Amino acid sequence: MEREKWGTKLGFMLAAMGSAVGLGNIWRFSFVAGNNGGGAFLILYLLFVILIAVPLLLTEVSIGRKAQSDVVGSYKKLAPGTPWFLTGFFGVLSAFLILGFYSVVAGWSIYYFTNYITGNFATQPAGGYEGAFGMFISDSWQPLFWVALFMALTIFIVVSGVKKGIEAANKIFMPILAILLIFLAFYSISLEGASEGLRFLFSPDWSAFSEPSIYIAALGQAFFSLSLGMGAMLTYGSYLSKEHKLPGATMGIGLMDSFFAIISGIVIFPAVFAFGIDPSSGPPLVFITLPSIFEQLPFGGIVGLVFFFALVLAALSSSVSILEVPTAYFMRVFNWSRRFTSVLMGAIMFALGIIVSLGFGIWSGVTPIGDNGILDSMDYVASNILLPLGGLTMALFVGWYFTKQQALEATDFTGSAIGNVWYIIIKFVAPILIILIFLNALGFI
Ligand code: TRP
Repeated sequence: MEREKWGTKLGFMLAAMGSAVGLGNIWRFSFVAGNNGGGAFLILYLLFVILIAVPLLLTEVSIGRKAQSDVVGSYKKLAPGTPWFLTGFFGVLSAFLILGFYSVVAGWSIYYFTNYITGNFATQPAGGYEGAFGMFISDSWQPLFWVALFMALTIFIVVSGVKKGIEAANKIFMPILAILLIFLAFYSISLEGASEGLRFLFSPDWSAFSEPSIYIAALGQAFFSLSLGMGAMLTYGSYLSKEHKLPGATMGIGLMDSFFAIISGIVIFPAVFAFGIDPSSGPPLVFITLPSIFEQLPFGGIVGLVFFFALVLAALSSSVSILEVPTAYFMRVFNWSRRFTSVLMGAIMFALGIIVSLGFGIWSGVTPIGDNGILDSMDYVASNILLPLGGLTMALFVGWYFTKQQALEATDFTGSAIGNVWYIIIKFVAPILIILIFLNALGFI
């Protein structure tokens, strides 16, 4: 069977942006920034996006495009007879871990959307938004229904191939999400007490830099937000043909992704302070702040409805790219159909999702890593360890296994001055930085 392909380069760009822009920009960015001191975190995050993530994004996509295979197969093809392919398994593993918790948060988003349809959340529910949210996520059964629905939608899109479903939906809903966020940002800035939130986000507390955990948190967020280091972008790159030029496309994806993160920070933090919410309240943060903003807006019920709808779509276009990683791999290895493979993979991820969801209820006392609950622990291992490790090995692969000429050719950089800068970054700068950040997180420096 012939390998699937994107319709156009724009189709690839949209799918890659759809993968990058998701819950990571709104939900994850705001609670990780909130936990790590705001402004100082933002600076580090942006620094790592420019210095590490965007150059690595180009690297990752180019591996897939060159090899025309999945995350394990690509290494086997480009480096036959070597153990490089083993690094691909980290990607497959992180796909399970990440979609395991991502689907839970996406399920919460669908639940919010339905509450705006029925008008339930147009006004404060009994116990306020914080109380209502806490009640909902700690229930054993109710959240699972929404997780299952979200996984089913993800599987449906992956089964039908990415081109018609997700590409088309993204074309409409990404712009809507952007417009809504910008509109909400202006509103949020106008709230009484907003300046405190803006200060939190934009004027760094320099002492936060002495906190070791901030470096690994910013690195993990850069990887997570750009869908980097797992092989999702590699797999998407493998559906590209050679005639499309990569460097501009990857820059665009990086810019767009950071734009969404910053705008959602401008929406969330002024509201966090204006409504007296603790910025370090963790994963529930946006689910408490956003409804509080919407409630104060004229026609807020409708704004909330459109917003959560767009958020669910953004989450879907991301989850599809995660499910595609193990799907592409297992389809090839076992010669299974796309339908069977994606249903099986999705079912395993849903099983993980059950564990994550119960971590907010009957298993809320379970703390696998430090005092982190189940979701936070899985997120920590996947985002802060496995993704940067995956990125590190990709950089080493292209920087050291390829010749310079091969590396430049794979990225359409032959004869380009920026190409030399990129090459130095992925050969030396990015690997050294990632290793330093790891050593720092481990307490060695
Ligand atoms: N980047 C997405 C977001 O911000 C999540 C995501 C999609 C992802 N594909 C990925 C994260 C691959 C890590 C690896 O919501």
